[in-house]
Amino acid sequence: MASQNPREEKLKKQRELSKLGGGQPRIAKQHEKGKLTARERIAELLDADSFHELEPFVMQRSDVCDNPDERILGDGVVTGYGQIDGRTVFVYAQDFTANGGSLGEMQSHKICRVMDLAVQNGAPIIGLIDSGGARIQEGIRSLGGYAEIFRRNALYSGVVPQISMIMGPCAGGAAYSPALTDFILMVEKQSYMFITGPSVIKAITGEEVNFESLGGAAVHLGTSGVASLTAPTEQDSLALCRALLSYIPSNNVENPPSCVSTDDPARIALELNDLVPEDDSQPYRMHEVIAHVVDQDSFLELQPTYAMNAIIGLARMDGSPVGIVAQEPNCMAGVIDINASDKICRFVRFCDCFNIPLVTFVDSPGFLPGVQQEHGGIIRHGAKVLFAYSEASVPKVSIVTRKAYGGAYIVMSSKYLGTDITYAWPTAEIAVMGPEGAANILHHKQIMDAADPEAEREKVMREYREKYLNPYVAAEAGFCDEIILPSETRSKVISALSVIREKQVQNPPRKHGNPPV
Ligand code: HXC
Repeated sequence: MASQNPREEKLKKQRELSKLGGGQPRIAKQHEKGKLTARERIAELLDADSFHELEPFVMQRSDVCDNPDERILGDGVVTGYGQIDGRTVFVYAQDFTANGGSLGEMQSHKICRVMDLAVQNGAPIIGLIDSGGARIQEGIRSLGGYAEIFRRNALYSGVVPQISMIMGPCAGGAAYSPALTDFILMVEKQSYMFITGPSVIKAITGEEVNFESLGGAAVHLGTSGVASLTAPTEQDSLALCRALLSYIPSNNVENPPSCVSTDDPARIALELNDLVPEDDSQPYRMHEVIAHVVDQDSFLELQPTYAMNAIIGLARMDGSPVGIVAQEPNCMAGVIDINASDKICRFVRFCDCFNIPLVTFVDSPGFLPGVQQEHGGIIRHGAKVLFAYSEASVPKVSIVTRKAYGGAYIVMSSKYLGTDITYAWPTAEIAVMGPEGAANILHHKQIMDAADPEAEREKVMREYREKYLNPYVAAEAGFCDEIILPSETRSKVISALSVIREKQVQNPPRKHGNPPV
């Protein structure tokens, strides 16, 4: 029965109006494009009926718009809090039906408010972003609004997890705020990120490019490395966000959420014992190693098509989340290059921020040689990985499966970078370099002077392999805690993590470090 109370009626009407955002025709247009509205997205993301909206009646200031009567309730963003799997999250969703979700002063105030609440209450902040960037009509006020958001993105980094869901075309500031957050999830063939769009690019540089090939999900996942994950539909990407959060604590003083695993912690993976080929120039798949070691089907790979010579992702071991870092010998022999360094460094730092133990699988012949890499700053980029592992105070376990040559040995969670427990498989080759390089440097004259130089080269390489390319030299010198059978890796790592999980390490106090970013 309709209420007769005029105050109640007014509130009801205002609430209904605020739900319409930019109006029914624009909502219909959004649906025609196959896109959900801001409110529909929030409902899909959160546990059923758990959303509580804040500030739905906030509007643009009347003195900064041409026609105050056309102001939209909520000012183009829906903000509030709710639950994901029973855990509180704060959320904001830009409403593309209202001025293209563009950000003005009041919208920025609403976003900043939920960001502040998230930090004060130790809960993740999730942005559902669908915006043309700074609202042109509000000029400097929009730019100031973005500055307020960026500052919070930076200061709250490492305090609560920040996740950006890119749901539509995101330009300018709508691309920069996500870039400051921990994870960016994009929807394939629907979401785009760019600083300047195709028309501006054509005007300035003459290049012709469309939205998809400039800033589509595939480009940002595989080429730029901006995106962490992509999904074919909005629903899939929102489900992925829920899955991602299941590995992450709500803030930097909590431990990540664990669950009861149905996978036996002592499970022996016999398949691993023959996985590494006899011939060390032959590849194998590190993805297979990871799948056998972690809890069954628990590996959530991040940036799977970017710098595929490196692997990063979250997994569970006996129900507890871990960060996995590895090389993929099946791609560029697992060499470390600039992009792999960036990928690994950022992930190691993320895990360290949020108390997620690191498990590192090592098989790398070293850093990628080449003028392009040197001039591109491989020294600086590679140093980031050293910095990240050295600084990380979370529990760290490493397993050398095969090559750990030179810098790659040191960089990839080696013992004296502070790794708590280091394992090597019997196939491990821990040395300064591979046999070819060593033969050329150490025995160049001997090879050249030989009656049959190629036979001599083979001989010195064979001797080098026998003498140095094994795990026993490292084990003898105490650089590796144990040589283990590949099949026992799972139980060894789980047991190591169980004893180092609560370790207390205090790095020297400082304002902050200065990594070579
Ligand atoms: C005000 C905007 C707007 C903006 C879009 N709209 N962007 N209004 N300010 N920045 C409005 C449109 O006028 C339109 O209003 C509605 O939103 C939908 O936009 P369309 O262009 O019809 O949609 P679509 O074809 O899907 O294109 C979306 C778009 C495009 C790619 C985002 O609108 C666009 O290029 N916008 C401008 C992007 C941009 O350059 N932003 C400034 C970035 S600078 P009606 O009334 O017709 O529905 C920036 C500063 C910070 O962000 C930089 C930090 C480093």
